[in-house]
Amino acid sequence: MVQNIIFRDYEKVIKAKAFTSSSADELHFIEHSLICIDKLGFIAKIYHSNEEDYLPLLSWAKNNNILHELKSDQYLLPGFIDLHVHAPQWPNLGKALDLPLDQWLQEYTFPLEARYSDLEFTRKTYQHLVQTLLENGTTTAVYFATIHRESSVELGRICLSLGQRALIGKVAMDDPNSCPDYYRDKSAKSAIEETHLFIEDIKKLSGNENNQILPVITPRFIPSCTTELLKGLGELAQETHCHVQTHCSESDWEHNYVLERYGVTDAQALNNFGLMTRKTILAHSNLISDDDINIIKSKSAGIAHCPLSNFYFANCVFPLRKALNRHVHVGLGSDIAAGHSPSIFDACRHSITASKALNDGVNSQLSAEQRGCSGSEITFKEAFWLATGGGGEVLDLPIGQLREGYLFDAMVIDTNVTSSDILIREEDSSHDILQKLIYNTQRINITDIWVGGKKVY
Ligand code: GUN
Ligand code: FE
Repeated sequence: MVQNIIFRDYEKVIKAKAFTSSSADELHFIEHSLICIDKLGFIAKIYHSNEEDYLPLLSWAKNNNILHELKSDQYLLPGFIDLHVHAPQWPNLGKALDLPLDQWLQEYTFPLEARYSDLEFTRKTYQHLVQTLLENGTTTAVYFATIHRESSVELGRICLSLGQRALIGKVAMDDPNSCPDYYRDKSAKSAIEETHLFIEDIKKLSGNENNQILPVITPRFIPSCTTELLKGLGELAQETHCHVQTHCSESDWEHNYVLERYGVTDAQALNNFGLMTRKTILAHSNLISDDDINIIKSKSAGIAHCPLSNFYFANCVFPLRKALNRHVHVGLGSDIAAGHSPSIFDACRHSITASKALNDGVNSQLSAEQRGCSGSEITFKEAFWLATGGGGEVLDLPIGQLREGYLFDAMVIDTNVTSSDILIREEDSSHDILQKLIYNTQRINITDIWVGGKKVY
């Protein structure tokens, strides 16, 4: 009787074999556990099979028709978090990646982003993008939209209607020296005002009472913003306590541009403008110095590591091992469309590959000792953390872990679907199984998705 009163708070009970991490080096395999989800979509309690209440709860959940039991070939993972997506660039996926960053922006990216003044074009592309990301296991995405407020708010509506958790920024870019006439905020003043209004619009969105969609203050990157705009957005960040996102020390060209303009690095300049906060997401940060790391750490800001796009536009590899060793908050980003994959499983794989390339070096004409930066490798377990709990930590939100008090954002990997690339064998340990899931999961293996306890796929 007492038990039934406690159980009554549960809306749903999931019986699953599951993987979750509580830090970069603490991985948990939970077998046959009962994950109890409350009315608000949070994990209220996880019962393990040796607990006294386990069997009574199991029969209570069955009798009340709220048990979802995974099959023996299925595994539950926390939903993945993509910390850096340019939503409007979706139609350019896989295009023009042979150009340098500045030329790619001017010739391909800005002309496409300018088209989002059209709401019909917006709806068509954003719906396709959000559905694709969800079906690839991304339950939370952090989006750069465009300079258009209406269209950026529409992205919020679409995420709500398809069920994805999202953080969205109306992009701010006003510098006539670097932004074309056809795609630029009219002035610093109007960019700040529009950002302010955008924050209000998102907070007022119908259906967003639980803040599933959050607004993000989004200066594109220092080269596209005037000092007046950076200063104003920094003040807005301090005032509103909203998230902030921008690009930081991505490539040689961009990093040197900031050094020349301000005499300091991106991280130092952003900090001076008040844009480095606990809720700041710095995309890339490939060329950061030890002093920059100290600033990022002192503000507990986070980094969105985008390993695939870095191979095309960064001229170098992000020192991920160093960031992890220094306990900097880091997660993963697809950086669509500078990265050509919508999958954070791919981002996991690329983060491991990039770390190995950095570790060993790549120039065969150099001796092994001269070739790489030894001690740079990361493991698949660390990549899994980055895709899940690491992303949640960057965002300062209770997501990315299957843990009491966290939102139930999760996916089911079915290893036994037709055309599966995953083959689990009896001799595989739980460690082997997660490794196979990270390396070999394809979109076809992802069969169920929940966001905030709600089944969305
Ligand atoms: N820097 C400024 N804008 C962009 C962008 O859209 N993509 C990338 N990768 N870098 C940028
Ligand atoms: Fe980017």
